[in-house]
Amino acid sequence: MDGDRPMREFLLLVCLVISTNLRSIAGSVPQAVYYQLESCGKVHLTVSPMQDNYFELNWVVKDCNENNSPDYIIFSNEDPRNREEERSAILKEIRASEHPTGYYKTKFKFREPWLPGNWEYNPNTVNADIGPHCLPFWITSKRNNQTIDTRCLEIQPTWMQDNREYLANQRIGNVFIPGTHNSGSYSGIIAVFEGYVLNQDRDVWNQLVFGNRYLDLRIGHMPDKELYIYHDNVRIGKVEPVLRQIQKFAELAPQEVIIVDIHRFPFPKNFTREMHHKFVGLLQNILGNHIFHSSSYENESGPTFSKIWSTKRSIIISYADSLVINDYQWLWPPIKQFWGNTNQVSELRNYLRSSIYEHVGLRRPLWALMAELTPQTWDVILRKNNLRVLAQKANKEVTKWFRDEWCNRTNIVASDYFLGNDLIRVAIETNKAKGLK
Ligand SMILES: *[C@@H]1O[C@H](CO)[C@@H](O)[C@H](O)[C@H]1NC(C)=O
Ligand SMILES: *[C@@H]1O[C@H](CO)[C@@H](O)[C@H](O)[C@H]1NC(C)=O
Ligand SMILES: *[C@@H]1O[C@H](CO)[C@@H](O)[C@H](O)[C@H]1NC(C)=O
Ligand SMILES: *[C@@H]1O[C@H](CO)[C@@H](O)[C@H](O)[C@H]1NC(C)=O
Repeated sequence: MDGDRPMREFLLLVCLVISTNLRSIAGSVPQAVYYQLESCGKVHLTVSPMQDNYFELNWVVKDCNENNSPDYIIFSNEDPRNREEERSAILKEIRASEHPTGYYKTKFKFREPWLPGNWEYNPNTVNADIGPHCLPFWITSKRNNQTIDTRCLEIQPTWMQDNREYLANQRIGNVFIPGTHNSGSYSGIIAVFEGYVLNQDRDVWNQLVFGNRYLDLRIGHMPDKELYIYHDNVRIGKVEPVLRQIQKFAELAPQEVIIVDIHRFPFPKNFTREMHHKFVGLLQNILGNHIFHSSSYENESGPTFSKIWSTKRSIIISYADSLVINDYQWLWPPIKQFWGNTNQVSELRNYLRSSIYEHVGLRRPLWALMAELTPQTWDVILRKNNLRVLAQKANKEVTKWFRDEWCNRTNIVASDYFLGNDLIRVAIETNKAKGLK
């Protein structure tokens, strides 16, 4: 069974505080370009999951040799292609050869961004701009003063719509869907064990706007009759605001297929039928107009995107309780999460690789690889290997595994601190390439 056992064993209480909202100014729109993400010198930016939230520079070193290796990696706050006096925008320039793993952590902090294209969360927004949008942070690799690759840190609020010609005939079970693990466990908690409770540092709205399309929620019911997001036994925050963020996003981006996995009901132990009905009522109430109805799959890989789009409803809700599913035709069966429960990167890799073969026996369209490390009992007792530390260890490797090896055999991948990996872009490019065939 999935879950973070040490948490259950050691955590009782947490308290909520408010996160700070420092904003930076966002930049403008790039055109869609088809990228091979995995060749020597290709670049991407990530944000460290550690509390410093420093930018990290990443470039591909695989298959590099003396004839194609980048010599400089440049971090800047303007698109280097748009500027004559390019140097003034440079924040950091490093020699690639001094960092042979293709990774460098800067000392520039990523603050809560101002989301461009009218994508700031606002319940009153009625329109936002389709297409990817750059935040004002760029990474460039150069060789002999020639640019090899340039990319910005981008939001991808409508990547499914943007790539509809590639996706239309693909089935939901055959595409790569990036997502988050314990999606409701974000920000704001300060407690002794906060490092073992928070899996994300961006709210669900940001998760969706950046391009995640799978959300993993765990629900609890309090004696005060309110429904909450839980992380094991730990109460995180109310469910309703999270559902409202999903609802607003679906309204502004109606062609984005979002999988909401109601994965567990950790509290109370006896999560009664009444509680289920109350929660399903809330789902229906807030998300109802957007929920995709499909009582049977016409195909073991699920419906095609064009089928889903034709209904004008694009939220798929999977529900972990099979009795409840019988009562509501529109709930999809539970999604199998392949969860390695290890704090070792090499074990995670082996586990995920074997899971890719194992899933074939499931006979369900959707399945999820949980691409994160989990603190073990002694990590919690000794206060080492918290979720941020583990995400820092895992995320770089996770990007490489999926980008370089497993992308074509992957359905859902859920990660912790998603800004620390490049899975969203890997998913987009993989699905485009598949759609070309
Ligand atoms: C590198 O290229 C830029 C413009 O592309 C030019 O201004 C600069 O002088 C070049 N530097 C060297 C060392 O060649
Ligand atoms: C669970 O709760 C229901 C309703 O409150 C109650 O009837 C039932 O006995 C409880 N089951 C257990 C195992 O506690
Ligand atoms: C399901 O769809 C796939 C790909 O679109 C196709 O190859 C397969 O034959 C379909 N299966 C059935 C039972 O129709
Ligand atoms: C994935 O499939 C595409 C063709 O659709 C191919 O070009 C690419 O090399 C494959 N990637 C991997 C990592 O197998």
